[in-house]
Amino acid sequence: MPTVRSSRISQDPPGLYSPLVPTVVVASYKGGAGKTALAVPIAERLAFAGLRVLLMTCDTQEDARFRLGVGRSEGAIATRHYGAGTLTVTGIRGEKVIDVLYRKGPDRMGLGSFDMTVLDTPPEVQGGSLPGVLLVATVDGADAARNILTMLRRTPSNSDIIMVRLGREDPDDWKYNVGVMEDVLQRPLDFYPEPLLKTRRIKEAHNSGESIWTLPRTGRSTATFLSAVETFAQMAWQRARPHHPWPAPPAASSRAPYVSGWDDDE
Ligand SMILES: Nc1ncnc2c1ncn2[C@@H]1O[C@H](COP(=O)(O)OP(=O)(O)O)[C@@H](O)[C@H]1O
Ligand SMILES: [Mg+2]
Repeated sequence: MPTVRSSRISQDPPGLYSPLVPTVVVASYKGGAGKTALAVPIAERLAFAGLRVLLMTCDTQEDARFRLGVGRSEGAIATRHYGAGTLTVTGIRGEKVIDVLYRKGPDRMGLGSFDMTVLDTPPEVQGGSLPGVLLVATVDGADAARNILTMLRRTPSNSDIIMVRLGREDPDDWKYNVGVMEDVLQRPLDFYPEPLLKTRRIKEAHNSGESIWTLPRTGRSTATFLSAVETFAQMAWQRARPHHPWPAPPAASSRAPYVSGWDDDE
């Protein structure tokens, strides 16, 4: 019997939508690449800058909630105040994310009004495939180039990609590797030049639900990490408030009692 071969009709290219509210997506191919570690302080920084920020945590653990010191008893949506801005965190997945971002918007989904959304995605290829966003793609040392390319190959052309390296790598190698990825993907990629090193202090802050913005800025790795977050948040700000000056970062000494619970941690 001859086999019947299907002749595949190629799909229409997906339309290039833009989110209803400017959006930052933090994604990686694999878990443990520092997505939540970046998504939370980026969202906080934008709130510090005076925006109403919606942080959507899309993995089943919803650990972004915990990192913000939100307790289980606090309900599905929790809001923190950061000076003039607010950060609202909620666990949300699947099609609903698409509804919030592209179809209905947070308001019509009953979440409230926001100036910016930040998405902490689960580790998967799809994390990188949302159109019209600022995509912060995190990579750690164990990540194969193939994995990253698999994820970024699906990134629509109207999304901006910034590659971030967590863990030690020679900056020249990193630059070279990103150049190779640009060649393969045939699109420009931004990349953060310095590797973000894991530090005990940041780890401890994460584990205790304490904001890394309250950490003392001594020590090169912590300062580098905060500078990176500052850069990404500013890139996002330019999408929400183009032509408006970027507000100065919170002082480290402001052990900001903006979140109840954090100020008695240490
Ligand atoms: N810069 C950092 N310094 C120290 N620990 C970090 C840093 N970034 C991430 N981590 C830790 O690494 C682990 C994985 O990070 P996480 O953000 O949860 O990854 P993902 O969300 O991609 O799964 C967590 O235990 C986190 O506390
Ligand atoms: Mg995570």
